[in-house]
Amino acid sequence: VPPVRNICCVGAGYVGGPTAAVIAFQNPHIRVTVVDRDEKRIRRWNSRHPPIYEPGLNDILRVARDGSRECVFPNQPSTQPEAGEDGASDSSISSDCGSQSDDGSRGPITIPARQPNLFFTTEVAKCISEADIVLVAVNTPTKYRGAGAGSATDMTAFEAVTAVVAQHARPGAIIVEKSTVPVRTADFVQETLALHRPNTPFTVLSNPEFLAAGTAIQDLLTVDRILIGSSPTPAGLAAAAALASVYASWVPRSRILTTNVFSSELAKLVANSMLAQRISSINSIAAVCEATGADVDEVARAIGADPRIGPKFLKAGIGFGGSCFKKDVLSLAYLAESLRLPEVADYWRAVIGMNEFARDRFAARVVRCLNNTLVGKKLAVLGYAFKKDTNDTRESPAVDIIRSLLEEGPREVAVFDPCCVPEMMREEIGRFLGAEVLSGNGGCVVVYGDAYEACSGADALLITTEFDEFKNTPVGGDGVEKKKVVKKVVVDPRPFKGSEGPTESELLALHNALRAQVEGGDEDPLGRFNAMPSCDAGCMDCQLEKTTGAAGYGASQQHVSKGRLDWSRIHGQMRRPHWVFDGRRVLDIEVMEKMGFRVESVGRQGR
Ligand code: UDX
Repeated sequence: VPPVRNICCVGAGYVGGPTAAVIAFQNPHIRVTVVDRDEKRIRRWNSRHPPIYEPGLNDILRVARDGSRECVFPNQPSTQPEAGEDGASDSSISSDCGSQSDDGSRGPITIPARQPNLFFTTEVAKCISEADIVLVAVNTPTKYRGAGAGSATDMTAFEAVTAVVAQHARPGAIIVEKSTVPVRTADFVQETLALHRPNTPFTVLSNPEFLAAGTAIQDLLTVDRILIGSSPTPAGLAAAAALASVYASWVPRSRILTTNVFSSELAKLVANSMLAQRISSINSIAAVCEATGADVDEVARAIGADPRIGPKFLKAGIGFGGSCFKKDVLSLAYLAESLRLPEVADYWRAVIGMNEFARDRFAARVVRCLNNTLVGKKLAVLGYAFKKDTNDTRESPAVDIIRSLLEEGPREVAVFDPCCVPEMMREEIGRFLGAEVLSGNGGCVVVYGDAYEACSGADALLITTEFDEFKNTPVGGDGVEKKKVVKKVVVDPRPFKGSEGPTESELLALHNALRAQVEGGDEDPLGRFNAMPSCDAGCMDCQLEKTTGAAGYGASQQHVSKGRLDWSRIHGQMRRPHWVFDGRRVLDIEVMEKMGFRVESVGRQGR
């Protein structure tokens, strides 16, 4: 097995950044460089506030990128406390790191003083030329025009990077597909390499990434499996063994699976497609439950007890969102079509169809319950992100729901999200639904930074994201959860008065000031603040993250929770008969009904 001393990861995005960081963290003897041609993104990776927010990421960077003095991370249970249970810091690494044993548990670890071995730079060609292993982790979205538009994978960025790698990689280098790519891409990579550098030996591997947004570091440190696909030649097998040795620093060998290269490429698409299919399956049953009196959560519990089915990913709701599921299901369907397997393509497309049905059905139910007219009514949409504890709004079901509500001519659609910044939500809604739908432009969509303002005077509330903040838990008989901090403030509060961190209005003021500077042609504030010596003490760019980082990819999330909603306060502000439509099954319906709400939940018959 060739020794690995130098790894270059091309692409400093959601997959490349955290993956490279964890590889470097676990392999102090390997120099890991992350390259990206986007200077701003690299500058942010080199600052105290990386362009993405993931719990634990900053601690990993502190050790691998910055070098650390000796430190001990104490032994802690491997399961994370439920958010809000004890106000645990979500940037704590203490329960996250260390070698993983076969049963997934981790012990205390001592990190000896060490030199930095993780670097972020724009010197793409140089770093590729020095690497034993080149990881290609660039964006592969769905094509939006031309052949296969709407289904096929857009390989523009991947192809461009492959050409650069082909020009600069050193002979014998191992080229690894980290991005999600169509099956047989490895052939294309091999051909590109041969075209640019005939007679130079290179090996191509597939090593897809299975991390989920919001748990990236946890997923990487305690992986279910590492998948490495290679050609069955001696060179292919040796390359796979070399890459396996990198992961073996912390992953038990039994969890490192090797397959042929095309199986590995396909497995990534299939994993996401099967997860999406599971959600669509339970959502189809939710529709049956609503019409019959069965309860979808009870059905899910009953079937999930069968170990062949298992309990996870059976939460019915208004459908899946996010950047991966729809894209990968469509890519699989497109593959089937290209292979002249229309029956297979139809089968997978039905998963997307069922997902859209879940959203449409929910919106239709709201309209039906409100006497088939929304004219003159105010509806509050609670949750704009595609899942809880993130400000990622890509493919969020909430947008489609808002679109359906608007068709009925309501007086107001109020939107609130505990993680997303109002300004950014407005921008996005304007982009997706047209600027004219927004208040201020003659429209009726109003985005709020405060849940109670959003709900005030509402005829109905719609819960569209499963945030813990929206839960109601009976406490002391009155059905109202005491306010508590679900997550610690991640932003550094020092530049602001008070101990709770910046208020929404302080953040907005800062945002507006920074925006004015940018629009006034002033220097890029991020660069400036990163370069400012006071940044280390004051974290100005961190505040900027909170104010600008709403729109998904590359955005950083600083979740300042104000605790769970006070439902009795909301009840007092709403109009009769206090309709609540729970699209994510987060509410205890009995408690809500005792308080006087009229609740309709996905997967449960209406009363
Ligand atoms: C997913 C995969 O989980 C991950 O392995 C892959 O690498 C990338 O895609 P992610 O998109 O970050 O990760 O989110 P995930 O937690 O899987 O949720 C996706 C969507 O499904 C969310 O909108 C969520 O609300 C929804 N969902 C999930 C359900 O509606 N019901 C469920 O039971 C689970």
